[in-house]
Amino acid sequence: MKQEYAVVTKKLAVVVLISGGGSNLQAIIDAMHHHDLPIEIRAVISNKGTAYGLERARRANIPAHTLNHTDFPDRISYSRALQELIDNFKPELVVLAGFMRILPEAFVDHYMGRMLNIHPSLLPEFSGLHTHQRALKANALEHGASVHFVTNELDGGPLIIQAHVPVHKEDTVETLAERVLEKEHKIYPLAIKWFAQKRLVMQGNHANLDGIPLDKPIKYPG
Ligand code: GAR
Repeated sequence: MKQEYAVVTKKLAVVVLISGGGSNLQAIIDAMHHHDLPIEIRAVISNKGTAYGLERARRANIPAHTLNHTDFPDRISYSRALQELIDNFKPELVVLAGFMRILPEAFVDHYMGRMLNIHPSLLPEFSGLHTHQRALKANALEHGASVHFVTNELDGGPLIIQAHVPVHKEDTVETLAERVLEKEHKIYPLAIKWFAQKRLVMQGNHANLDGIPLDKPIKYPG
Protein backbone atom coordinates (compact mmCIF):
# COMPACT_ATOMS: atom_id res chain seq x y z
CA MET A 1 0.00 0.00 0.00
CA LYS A 2 1.24 3.50 -0.83
CA GLN A 3 2.64 5.35 2.19
CA GLU A 4 0.93 8.69 2.78
CA TYR A 5 2.93 11.41 4.53
CA ALA A 6 1.21 13.32 7.30
CA VAL A 7 0.83 17.01 6.47
CA VAL A 8 1.01 19.21 9.56
CA THR A 9 -1.86 21.70 9.18
CA LYS A 10 -2.75 22.44 12.80
CA LYS A 11 -1.17 25.60 14.17
CA LEU A 12 1.08 25.25 17.18
CA ALA A 13 -0.35 26.90 20.33
CA VAL A 14 2.20 29.33 21.74
CA VAL A 15 2.45 31.65 24.76
CA VAL A 16 5.13 34.37 24.62
CA LEU A 17 6.67 35.86 27.77
CA ILE A 18 8.23 39.33 27.60
CA SER A 19 9.56 42.05 29.89
CA GLY A 20 10.30 44.92 27.53
CA GLY A 21 10.19 46.28 24.01
CA GLY A 22 9.07 43.08 22.36
CA SER A 23 10.96 43.46 19.09
CA ASN A 24 11.46 39.68 19.01
CA LEU A 25 7.73 39.25 19.63
CA GLN A 26 7.12 41.59 16.68
CA ALA A 27 9.42 39.54 14.45
CA ILE A 28 7.45 36.41 15.38
CA ILE A 29 4.10 38.15 14.72
CA ASP A 30 5.40 39.41 11.36
CA ALA A 31 6.57 35.92 10.40
CA MET A 32 3.10 34.57 11.30
CA HIS A 33 1.40 37.15 9.14
CA HIS A 34 3.61 36.32 6.20
CA HIS A 35 2.24 32.79 6.48
CA ASP A 36 5.50 31.00 6.94
CA LEU A 37 5.19 30.44 10.68
CA PRO A 38 2.40 27.95 11.50
CA ILE A 39 1.66 29.09 15.05
CA GLU A 40 -1.14 30.71 16.98
CA ILE A 41 -0.01 33.05 19.79
CA ARG A 42 -2.69 32.49 22.41
CA ALA A 43 -1.31 35.07 24.85
CA VAL A 44 1.55 37.45 25.54
CA ILE A 45 2.42 37.77 29.22
CA SER A 46 4.70 40.41 30.74
CA ASN A 47 6.03 40.77 34.25
CA LYS A 48 5.90 44.58 33.72
CA GLY A 49 2.78 46.54 32.84
CA THR A 50 4.83 49.15 31.01
CA ALA A 51 6.39 46.71 28.51
CA TYR A 52 5.87 48.06 24.99
CA GLY A 53 5.55 44.46 23.78
CA LEU A 54 2.06 44.38 25.36
CA GLU A 55 1.02 47.15 22.96
CA ARG A 56 2.47 45.19 20.03
CA ALA A 57 0.38 42.17 21.11
CA ARG A 58 -2.85 44.21 21.37
CA ARG A 59 -2.26 45.70 17.93
CA ALA A 60 -2.04 42.15 16.57
CA ASN A 61 -5.24 41.18 18.42
CA ILE A 62 -3.37 38.86 20.75
CA PRO A 63 -4.54 38.75 24.40
CA ALA A 64 -1.98 40.71 26.46
CA HIS A 65 -1.59 40.06 30.19
CA THR A 66 0.53 41.52 32.95
CA LEU A 67 1.54 39.43 35.94
CA ASN A 68 3.74 41.71 37.98
CA HIS A 69 6.44 39.91 39.94
CA THR A 70 6.46 42.70 42.55
CA ASP A 71 2.92 41.68 43.59
CA PHE A 72 4.28 38.37 44.96
CA PRO A 73 6.32 37.75 48.10
CA ASP A 74 8.88 35.50 46.41
CA ARG A 75 10.08 33.88 43.21
CA ILE A 76 8.31 30.57 43.88
CA SER A 77 4.86 32.06 44.44
CA TYR A 78 5.28 34.26 41.36
CA SER A 79 6.28 31.31 39.20
CA ARG A 80 3.33 29.23 40.42
CA ALA A 81 0.90 31.99 39.46
CA LEU A 82 2.69 32.45 36.14
CA GLN A 83 2.46 28.73 35.39
CA GLU A 84 -1.25 28.75 36.19
CA LEU A 85 -1.84 31.74 33.90
CA ILE A 86 0.21 30.22 31.06
CA ASP A 87 -1.51 26.83 31.34
CA ASN A 88 -4.95 28.42 30.94
CA PHE A 89 -3.94 28.91 27.31
CA LYS A 90 -2.81 25.28 26.87
CA PRO A 91 0.38 26.12 24.98
CA GLU A 92 2.45 23.49 23.21
CA LEU A 93 5.40 25.89 23.30
CA VAL A 94 6.42 28.69 25.65
CA VAL A 95 8.64 31.34 24.04
CA LEU A 96 10.80 33.55 26.24
CA ALA A 97 11.35 36.72 24.24
CA GLY A 98 13.32 39.06 26.48
CA PHE A 99 11.68 37.75 29.66
CA MET A 100 14.08 38.93 32.35
CA ARG A 101 13.13 36.80 35.36
CA ILE A 102 15.03 33.78 36.64
CA LEU A 103 12.68 30.81 36.65
CA PRO A 104 12.68 28.22 39.46
CA GLU A 105 13.36 24.54 38.88
CA ALA A 106 9.76 23.30 39.16
CA PHE A 107 8.63 25.83 36.55
CA VAL A 108 11.42 24.91 34.14
CA ASP A 109 10.77 21.18 34.67
CA HIS A 110 7.08 21.68 33.89
CA TYR A 111 7.91 23.10 30.43
CA MET A 112 11.00 20.97 29.75
CA GLY A 113 11.41 20.37 26.02
CA ARG A 114 8.70 22.92 25.17
CA MET A 115 10.25 26.21 26.25
CA LEU A 116 12.69 28.24 24.13
CA ASN A 117 14.81 31.27 24.95
CA ILE A 118 16.81 33.75 22.92
CA HIS A 119 20.00 35.14 24.41
CA PRO A 120 22.09 38.01 23.04
CA SER A 121 25.48 36.27 22.88
CA LEU A 122 27.21 33.31 21.33
CA LEU A 123 26.57 30.94 24.23
CA PRO A 124 28.34 29.57 26.19
CA GLU A 125 30.17 32.94 25.96
CA PHE A 126 28.57 35.71 28.03
CA SER A 127 25.67 34.02 29.73
CA GLY A 128 23.77 36.32 32.09
CA LEU A 129 23.35 40.08 31.77
CA HIS A 130 25.09 42.97 29.93
CA THR A 131 26.33 40.73 27.14
CA HIS A 132 27.15 43.51 24.64
CA GLN A 133 29.08 45.53 27.19
CA ARG A 134 31.03 42.41 28.20
CA ALA A 135 31.79 41.45 24.59
CA LEU A 136 33.18 44.96 23.96
CA LYS A 137 35.22 44.88 27.14
CA ALA A 138 36.69 41.50 26.17
CA ASN A 139 37.65 42.90 22.73
CA ALA A 140 35.67 40.08 21.12
CA LEU A 141 36.04 40.00 17.34
CA GLU A 142 32.62 38.51 16.93
CA HIS A 143 29.43 38.39 18.90
CA GLY A 144 25.90 37.23 18.21
CA ALA A 145 22.76 35.57 19.47
CA SER A 146 21.66 32.06 20.39
CA VAL A 147 18.34 30.23 20.58
CA HIS A 148 18.21 27.32 23.00
CA PHE A 149 15.87 25.04 24.89
CA VAL A 150 15.48 26.14 28.50
CA THR A 151 16.82 23.86 31.21
CA ASN A 152 17.74 24.50 34.81
CA GLU A 153 21.23 25.62 33.83
CA LEU A 154 21.03 29.42 33.40
CA ASP A 155 21.39 30.17 29.66
CA GLY A 156 22.86 26.67 29.41
CA GLY A 157 20.19 24.52 27.74
CA PRO A 158 20.72 22.71 24.41
CA LEU A 159 21.67 25.15 21.66
CA ILE A 160 19.64 25.19 18.45
CA ILE A 161 20.84 28.05 16.25
CA GLN A 162 23.30 30.94 16.47
CA ALA A 163 23.85 34.03 14.34
CA HIS A 164 27.27 35.66 14.35
CA VAL A 165 28.01 39.35 13.81
CA PRO A 166 31.35 41.16 13.59
CA VAL A 167 32.36 43.56 16.36
CA HIS A 168 33.71 46.84 14.94
CA LYS A 169 36.34 48.99 16.65
CA GLU A 170 33.99 51.95 16.82
CA ASP A 171 31.06 49.94 18.24
CA THR A 172 29.15 51.11 21.28
CA VAL A 173 26.79 48.94 23.32
CA GLU A 174 23.93 50.44 21.28
CA THR A 175 25.38 49.83 17.81
CA LEU A 176 26.39 46.28 18.72
CA ALA A 177 23.01 45.53 20.31
CA GLU A 178 21.27 46.76 17.17
CA ARG A 179 23.39 44.53 14.91
CA VAL A 180 22.70 41.51 17.14
CA LEU A 181 18.97 42.26 17.48
CA GLU A 182 18.57 42.32 13.70
CA LYS A 183 19.88 38.72 13.64
CA GLU A 184 17.72 37.71 16.62
CA HIS A 185 14.69 38.64 14.54
CA LYS A 186 15.79 36.13 11.90
CA ILE A 187 16.81 33.15 14.03
CA TYR A 188 13.97 33.11 16.57
CA PRO A 189 11.10 32.74 14.06
CA LEU A 190 13.18 30.10 12.27
CA ALA A 191 13.72 27.96 15.37
CA ILE A 192 10.03 28.32 16.31
CA LYS A 193 9.07 27.25 12.79
CA TRP A 194 11.22 24.10 13.05
CA PHE A 195 9.55 23.30 16.38
CA ALA A 196 6.06 23.89 14.93
CA GLN A 197 6.90 21.62 12.00
CA LYS A 198 7.95 18.93 14.50
CA ARG A 199 11.44 18.96 12.98
CA LEU A 200 12.98 20.20 16.22
CA VAL A 201 12.78 18.35 19.53
CA MET A 202 14.83 18.24 22.70
CA GLN A 203 16.27 14.81 23.39
CA GLY A 204 18.28 14.39 26.56
CA ASN A 205 20.75 17.24 26.61
CA HIS A 206 20.64 17.80 22.86
CA ALA A 207 18.53 19.65 20.39
CA ASN A 208 17.57 17.24 17.64
CA LEU A 209 16.83 18.64 14.16
CA ASP A 210 15.39 16.39 11.46
CA GLY A 211 16.31 13.33 13.53
CA ILE A 212 19.94 14.37 13.99
CA PRO A 213 21.26 15.41 17.43
CA LEU A 214 23.07 18.74 17.09
CA ASP A 215 26.53 18.51 18.60
CA LYS A 216 26.90 22.19 17.75
CA PRO A 217 24.24 24.80 16.96
CA ILE A 218 23.14 25.49 13.39
CA LYS A 219 25.04 28.55 12.16
CA TYR A 220 22.76 31.16 10.58
CA PRO A 221 22.45 31.66 7.61
CA GLY A 222 24.06 28.27 7.06
C1 GAR B 1 16.85 40.65 23.34
O1 GAR B 1 18.11 41.14 22.97
C2 GAR B 1 16.97 39.27 23.96
O2 GAR B 1 17.96 38.49 23.37
C3 GAR B 1 17.34 39.62 25.38
O3 GAR B 1 16.52 40.71 25.69
C4 GAR B 1 16.28 41.47 24.50
C5 GAR B 1 14.79 41.66 24.37
O4 GAR B 1 14.50 42.53 23.31
N1 GAR B 1 17.14 38.52 26.26
C6 GAR B 1 17.94 38.25 27.30
O5 GAR B 1 18.88 38.95 27.61
C7 GAR B 1 17.56 37.00 28.08
N2 GAR B 1 18.61 36.64 28.94
P1 GAR B 1 13.03 42.65 22.75
O6 GAR B 1 12.12 42.91 23.95
O7 GAR B 1 13.08 43.84 21.85
O8 GAR B 1 12.67 41.39 22.03
